[in-house]
Parts: sequence; C-alpha cells; structure tokens
Amino acid sequence: MALQRTDKILSSQNIASRSEIKSMIKSGRITADGNTVKRPEEKYDPDNTEFAVDGVRINFRKYLYIMMNKPQGVLSASNDRYEKTVIDLLPENLRRKDLFPAGRLDKNTEGFILITNDGELSHKMLSPKSHVYKLYEAQTDRDLTDDDVKAFSKGIKVGELSFMPAEMKITGRNKALVEICEGKFHQIKKMFMAVGAEVISLKRLRIGQVHLDESLSPGECRELEPQEIIDILSLNHGI
Ligand code: URA
Repeated sequence: MALQRTDKILSSQNIASRSEIKSMIKSGRITADGNTVKRPEEKYDPDNTEFAVDGVRINFRKYLYIMMNKPQGVLSASNDRYEKTVIDLLPENLRRKDLFPAGRLDKNTEGFILITNDGELSHKMLSPKSHVYKLYEAQTDRDLTDDDVKAFSKGIKVGELSFMPAEMKITGRNKALVEICEGKFHQIKKMFMAVGAEVISLKRLRIGQVHLDESLSPGECRELEPQEIIDILSLNHGI
C-alpha cells in the first residue's frame, strides 16, 4: 500500500480526531515500529507498520464490515441534514469517517444492511452482474397466489421497467419470501405492484449466504465474522 501520513492513518482508525492525534504526536506518545513519531507528516505503510499509543499497540484495520438490523424510519444514507441515518446509529467504537451503507433500503424497510468502507466488495455485492442474491420477507395487502409466483418467475415488465425472473415463496397469509439479485429503486414494491398487490412491510433477511442475525434488535449492529465476509458474496441462492 502507498505510504500515508501518520495523522491520516491513525485518524482513519477511530482513535481520536486528526487534531488530537497531531497533539499526541507532538507529545511523543505515538510510536511506529517502536520509534517515536516526531511529526504528523511522517509517512508509513499502514499495512506493514506497527503503531502504538502510550505503548499500547493499535490493531490497524483497513476495512470494517458491519451488519446492522436497520429499523424502519431511518435512512440508509451516509448523512442527511434532517433525518437520522444508519451511520448515526453506529456505536462509538465502530465510528469511522469512511463508512457507508452498501446499497439502499427504503426508509420504511427494515432488516439487514451492510455498512462498510470497502468500495470494491460493495460494488460486487450490488452489481446485478455478480448475481449476489438478497432475500426479503414481504407482507402484502392481499393473499398471494400461484399466479403471482409464476409471474415473478417469468420476470416482470412494468412500462419501461423490467425485472429479472425472481423466486417467490408464499409463507403465510399475505406473506412471501422473495429473492432478487438486482437492486432497482423500490424493486420489490414495484414487482408486487405489477401483480396488483401492495407491500405493507418489507424486511431484508439475507445477503449472499449471510443471514440477518436475529439476536440484533432493530438499530443494533455487529461486525461480520471473517467467514461471513466471504459468504456475503456467495452466488448460492434459493429459498
Ligand atoms: N425493494 C424495495 O421495494 N424496497 C427496498 O427497500 C428494498 C427492495
């Protein structure tokens, strides 16, 4: 990796603000591979340098992968002037400036949203070409039928818009699971609308082969396990 300024490297790790880090460096509290860093501009390779503050080693992590159970009523955006976002819900220990939600859930959709600073993984997860499937549970305003299942399986066209074939499984009264690998705006709602049903509530349950951790209450989050970071790009699917 390219060399970076010490203050930039350390402020990316949520240790302290950039100005606080600068004054920590000036007080001689930071070491790089055991040598005191004298100026914030000193450059190091963050992947191959061991930093310490007051002798305590910093566990440098380039990427974070956070599973959040998004509550209804919160925006999946990085920031908003008026409304609360999923980033605002992150606990102090997981706050970093470069985090963003990978993809969008509507304000009134709940469930699994991935928050990360890994743009490449996010792109792979979201591109319909990658065929990473996302599973949703939808509650609708009417009973669903085998005709609806068939219509979804053939792919749906609404005016100019078309949606790829999708698997739907009826799971109860007015309730179904649907799996899609595209992420078009209001996609699930529009697909149901095309068959004359309205989505009353929507929850994302799975991305790739990673299930929403049901022990997370709405608004709570946790980091993905190493295996889950791999499984989130899994091409396996099926309800
Ligand atoms: N489809 C929708 O209609 N809304 C979402 O939030 C996600 C998928």
